Amino acid sequence: MTPRRLLPLLCLAVASAAGNAQSAKHPQAPDTRSMPWMNTTLGPDERADLVVKQLTLDEKIQLVHGIGWGPLREGDPVPADNNGGAGQVLGIPRLGIPSIQQADSAVGARMAASQSRYATLLPSVLGAAASWDAEAAHLYGDVIGRELRAQGYNQSIGGGVDLARDPRNGRLFEYPGEDPVLAGTTVGHLILGLQGNNIMGDIKHYAFNDQETGRTVVDVHLDRKAAHESDLLAFEIGIRIGHPASVMCSYNKFEGDWTCENDWLLNHVLKDQWKFPGFVVSDWEATHSTVKAAKAGLDMQMPGEEHFGAPLKQAVQSGQVPQARLDDMVHRILRSLIATGALDHPSTPRFVVDPFKGRDDAQHIAEESIVLLKNDGNLLPLGPSVHSIAVIGAHADMGIMSGGGSAQVDAPGGDAIHPGQSTKWGQSVYFPSAPLRYIREHAPSAKVEFNDGTDAAAAARFARSADVAIVFADQYMSEGADSPTLALPHRQNALIEAVAKANPHTVVVLVTGNPVSMPWVGQVAGIMEAWYPGIAGGQAIANLLFGTVNPSGKLPITFAKSESDLPHADIFGLARPRGDAGLPEHWAEQQKKVSFPADYTEGVRFGYKWFDSEHKEPLFAFGHGLSYTTYAYSGLTADAASHSATFTVRNTGKVAGEEIAQVYVQLPAASGENFRRLVAWQRVPLAAGESKQVTLNVDPLYISVWDTAEDNWKVLPGDYTVSAGGSSRDLPLTAKATVQ
Ligand code: BGC
Repeated sequence: MTPRRLLPLLCLAVASAAGNAQSAKHPQAPDTRSMPWMNTTLGPDERADLVVKQLTLDEKIQLVHGIGWGPLREGDPVPADNNGGAGQVLGIPRLGIPSIQQADSAVGARMAASQSRYATLLPSVLGAAASWDAEAAHLYGDVIGRELRAQGYNQSIGGGVDLARDPRNGRLFEYPGEDPVLAGTTVGHLILGLQGNNIMGDIKHYAFNDQETGRTVVDVHLDRKAAHESDLLAFEIGIRIGHPASVMCSYNKFEGDWTCENDWLLNHVLKDQWKFPGFVVSDWEATHSTVKAAKAGLDMQMPGEEHFGAPLKQAVQSGQVPQARLDDMVHRILRSLIATGALDHPSTPRFVVDPFKGRDDAQHIAEESIVLLKNDGNLLPLGPSVHSIAVIGAHADMGIMSGGGSAQVDAPGGDAIHPGQSTKWGQSVYFPSAPLRYIREHAPSAKVEFNDGTDAAAAARFARSADVAIVFADQYMSEGADSPTLALPHRQNALIEAVAKANPHTVVVLVTGNPVSMPWVGQVAGIMEAWYPGIAGGQAIANLLFGTVNPSGKLPITFAKSESDLPHADIFGLARPRGDAGLPEHWAEQQKKVSFPADYTEGVRFGYKWFDSEHKEPLFAFGHGLSYTTYAYSGLTADAASHSATFTVRNTGKVAGEEIAQVYVQLPAASGENFRRLVAWQRVPLAAGESKQVTLNVDPLYISVWDTAEDNWKVLPGDYTVSAGGSSRDLPLTAKATVQ
């Protein structure tokens, strides 16, 4: 989007405005004694109504749109209290209503450096999902919430939950994978953790923003049953668990209408069926109309005023948009400020972000999220018998890659591999957590050397005599573009193949936004998927390689062998280039201007549901992840009456570990489903030799089907097959449960 160019200007403008308006930044607190809506014993709706009664028409209009990058051009006045984030809605000081300060914060607070602030870079959201741990997701949100609060924001506009319908989607690192239940649960708990800091949370991009190619014009087609049972289910669960203040509608169209003016999505599903009480905010410049959007359920245009500024006022005055609808928009915004505590506990930038606590939390999440995919001959963990290690590639001597776009967090000190250079949209940024340093710390008496991997033959010679070779391979992904292929970019496949040929003890550590294909899978001994592991990525990777921490993450997304195994060999609107291309070379080409359809004919069958029902062999299955111990499952019973499954997991190895035990259900034949659904899971900590019986409850929603005629969920009567085990393709236990 063009606004990116303007960002530096905005930052400058904000910085100078902040400089010469310090006093205006902290206006005198209004006297709240005469404000009955400040009475905290009243409910949020009642309090919001009391405010709405006080507002003039102009004040109401002011609350339903805002400024942000894009409309703020050089020379435009910047409000004195602007906090420098992606958006701001001006408050109503006379009524004690603060400005809404919105910050991008998918994987950490964005745009901190331009304000001389620090923000923690967390692992990818895909990584958080790989932890299968609601507590880790809660902690994830808590880190973001407390840092936003410390920085003077009162709304996060993160919370991405679009499903990995296509594993090449450029924003997958911001999203929690392919399964609606795991994704919705992860993001729901993330929002809970975030809003626990009295910050308004958000869930986005509603809905079906499942590819970046042509994202502002692509028109998604999907039948309503499949829509409810896939992407919408992830939102439904996320909203039910997290109660976010807002839902951000997306750029794309759904069944012919832009999602930000889509009556079915906004009014019917979100507000009527799910009873969502918060507000709908448009993605940045995704508002296309005034009357249509307002009537369809959009509550806030961001940023800009061309639709929800003067034109909306006029539409209300002329009766085209009912006054009650405007009041409803404002009510929803105010009740969200109240319900999250953002009104009663205003954020002021007076706290200091604790970088060390943030780093520790990020490391914990990374250590639960990194997935050990392969470990032939138990090469890992590395121990004292390893006397020489050849570390190769991906700037592992200097830093670790992060994801880009509006999820880009500023690296402390700037890009670790280009110190002193300013970073640009669409350009990778490395954080100063160099794996090489931490590998050396774990192996103080071994010879640990680095080769940059740019010359595959030289890297192979370098690796030949080492006891172990560790090749780091990375893949930069960013908002605005998809990866045209599943291949690792920049000839890294050739590098891995060359090193593996030279050294049979080769381990590959992947630092990628997305799943990648691995033509070398049979040639290397070990593979670890680290996603983008965040500010403590180097430490976390080294701890796992050396077994200080036992790997426990499992894949929240299927790894395919090749594009031809996917529901769609190519991304809609994007031709696959030949060769070993990567970003950002194809970025411009992907920005289609003319609307084109994306027919999601696979319906709900993507990811493991596709591979299972098509009887295709994945490269690595959904739910897969190894550890340095082994587990055995026994004694499954399923109880239809209490919707529960009980079984025993035993640690059959020599070290303690945490097993993510998973339960899948195949619905009765009448469902027409020829695949299993993930319905429950639990992280089970087990000492060596220990057994635990676990009982997992299955939410009836997760075994429901959408009844299109009734426009509602229903549970089918019949026989359900319940399976339990360690991955979607490793389910040693099955039991039957009959629903009458
Ligand atoms: C992205 C949103 C983001 C917004 C504000 C848009 O381009 O799609 O996810 O919150 O920009 O930066």
